[in-house]
Amino acid sequence: MASPTGGSPGLLLWLLLLQPQLGCGQVNAKILGGQEAEDGKWPWQVSVRIRGKHVCGGSLITQQWVLTAGHCILSRFHYNVKMGDRSVYKEITSVVVPVRDIIVHPQLSVVGTIQKDLALLQLLYPVNFTMTIQPICIPQKTFRVEAGTTCWVTGWGRKEEYGGDLITSVLHEVDQGIIHHEKCNEMIQKAMKTTRDVVLEGMLCGYKGAGKDSCQGDSGGPLVCKFKDTWVQVGLVSWGLGCGRGNVPGVYTDIAAYSKWIVEVINRAASLYPVVFLIPLLCLVLPLGILVAP
Ligand SMILES: *[C@@H]1O[C@H](CO)[C@@H](O)[C@H](O)[C@H]1NC(C)=O
Repeated sequence: MASPTGGSPGLLLWLLLLQPQLGCGQVNAKILGGQEAEDGKWPWQVSVRIRGKHVCGGSLITQQWVLTAGHCILSRFHYNVKMGDRSVYKEITSVVVPVRDIIVHPQLSVVGTIQKDLALLQLLYPVNFTMTIQPICIPQKTFRVEAGTTCWVTGWGRKEEYGGDLITSVLHEVDQGIIHHEKCNEMIQKAMKTTRDVVLEGMLCGYKGAGKDSCQGDSGGPLVCKFKDTWVQVGLVSWGLGCGRGNVPGVYTDIAAYSKWIVEVINRAASLYPVVFLIPLLCLVLPLGILVAP
C-alpha cells in the first residue's frame, strides 16, 4: 500500500437505505486522517491466515462469511481469520476464528489472466459485531459504480514493489479512482505491449497516480466506496502489473458481477441449518434488496 492523501469518497450514486443502522457498511469509530487506518475505521477488514501467518486480506460480509480472493486459496491448509484490530500481529480487540469451509468460485482461472477470482470462507462459528467488527455491504448485480468515483482499498500488504517488509503491521488505506474494464484493458495492454485482452468483464480497476496501489499481501482485501452513509464493497484485490507503477491500474474482481453467486452460496449453506443461520443472513439480504443503481 502506498501513501494516500485526504479526499472524501465520491457520492456519485444515489441510494435509498431504509434502516442502515441495522445493516452493513456502518462505521462506529471516529475517523481521522492519515496514512495508517484508525482503529475501527474499516471494521470489515480481515486477515486470512495459514498457521497464524497473514497470507491475504478479506472482508466480513455476514456474521459467518468472509469474502476473499480465489487465488488466495491454493491448497487445503487450515485457514483462520483474524479481525477487529488494525494491527496484523496484535490481538487487542481482535478475534481469531477458524475457517470451517472454503468455497472457491468454480470457474476461477489463473491461466492467461486471473478470472473469477473470489472465494467464500465460512467461519466455524458466527462472530459478534463490535465497534471494530462490522460487515460490509455487497452490491446487487445491477450496481455499477461510476468511473472516476473515489473509493478506498485497505490492507496489510507490502508497501513497495521491491524491498521493504512483506507485510506492514498496521492496516493501510489508499484511495483509488474507479476505471471500468474496457478502459483499464487499454491501459494495461499498453503497459504490457500486448493486444491480448487482459482485463475482462467481471473485473474493475483502480488508479490514483503512481505510488498508490494495492500490492502483495493485499490480495483478497476489499475496495469500498461510500454511498450516502453506507460503505459498499465494489471490488476485491485481484492482480496487477507490479505495484504502484505509473499509468498501470490495479485490477479488482467486480463484486456486483458475482453477487448472485455469493448469495446463492450463503443461502445454500443457510438452508442446511435454517434456524441457526437465518438471522445472520439478514445483514446481507437487507442491503441487497435496497441498493438500487440509477
Ligand atoms: C457472542 O455473544 C453471545 C451472547 O453474549 C455469546 O454467548 C457468544 O459466545 C458470543 N460469540 C462469540 C464468538 O464470541
